[in-house]
Amino acid sequence: MKHLIDPTDLSVQETEEIVDLALRIIADRPAYSEVCKGKKLATLFYEPSTRTRLSFTSAMMELGGNVIGFSDAKNSSVSKGETVADTARVISCFADIIAMRHFEEGAPLVAAQVAGIPIINAGDGSHSHPTQTLTDLLTIKREKGRFDNLTIGFCGDLRFGRTVHSLIKALSRYQNNKVILIAPDELRLPSYMKHEVCDKYGVEYREVSNMEEVMPELDILYMTRVQKERFLDEDDFDRLKDSFILDPSKLVSAKEDMIILHPLPRVNEITKEVDADPRAAYFRQVENGKFVRMALICKLLEWAKDDSKTNQLVPDDVIVNQHRCANKRCISVMENVDSLFRKAEGEDGVYRCVYCESKAK
Ligand code: NCD
Repeated sequence: MKHLIDPTDLSVQETEEIVDLALRIIADRPAYSEVCKGKKLATLFYEPSTRTRLSFTSAMMELGGNVIGFSDAKNSSVSKGETVADTARVISCFADIIAMRHFEEGAPLVAAQVAGIPIINAGDGSHSHPTQTLTDLLTIKREKGRFDNLTIGFCGDLRFGRTVHSLIKALSRYQNNKVILIAPDELRLPSYMKHEVCDKYGVEYREVSNMEEVMPELDILYMTRVQKERFLDEDDFDRLKDSFILDPSKLVSAKEDMIILHPLPRVNEITKEVDADPRAAYFRQVENGKFVRMALICKLLEWAKDDSKTNQLVPDDVIVNQHRCANKRCISVMENVDSLFRKAEGEDGVYRCVYCESKAK
């Protein structure tokens, strides 16, 4: 059985198999209308969502399957104090596959350890969002035709923006991609992403604080929303919320075939005048999300029956219950689960939490 908790749970080959299946589904939708007949997807959403939850729902419906679940944890036993692990165990008696979004970082990993059916991470706090990455990859494939030799500018909230972390991880496995990180100092990419992803895989990256100066270089501009819900201090949010606003004047120097991506929802970081620009690919990206989730559900249900398909949820050299995570939003801090740490690669004396990748206290 395979779960999708982090983009690297899929090998490059498996990732491309999913993207290719999505392309085949787009080319012949009726051929897939019954492949999940009799199967149930449970969508367990502990955090707000429009696109992700509804695209999972419509994906399963288009495959002929059924959907159960909740979109507000207040209506579930969570409000009575049920843990993520118990909820996952219970739901696995009713469903064949689970898509879970949670504000606690690492919650889908805990679910995967106990559920006995495939778990899909539909976003855990500010950590990771691997199905948005599949959406982004399908869009990049359709718009640019390749996953390598790309210069990608990530703009906005690179600290709390989970879609950015997951997409950089996925693109780091391809040759010759260059990443330009456009963010105010307070919203820079987390250090584990720089050390353990960019440095490890030799991804060239540069940090800048102005989008105009790098615009002519970009093949892809990936805009993000400043993640209001992750700020502990409202004044900090107010100071940073209007850091970057993309309008048509800023696109004058961009390449003719650059594409603009955004996981959405947008607030004000892209003005609506940009929507008419053919380079604005963010609404095309939304539709790709449904097709790629159809492909993902098909593949994970197929792989659930294949004993050779597994993922290592916890590293071999894991250190159990010896460190505490410094991240207040980590499931190991918020719920009664074992603390799991590993030695960080390339950072002497640093231990990182297996659930959320933050440092030990
Ligand atoms: C993103 C998310 O939830 O992380 N949205 C999405 O899933 N498409 C981005 C965001 O909320 O800003």
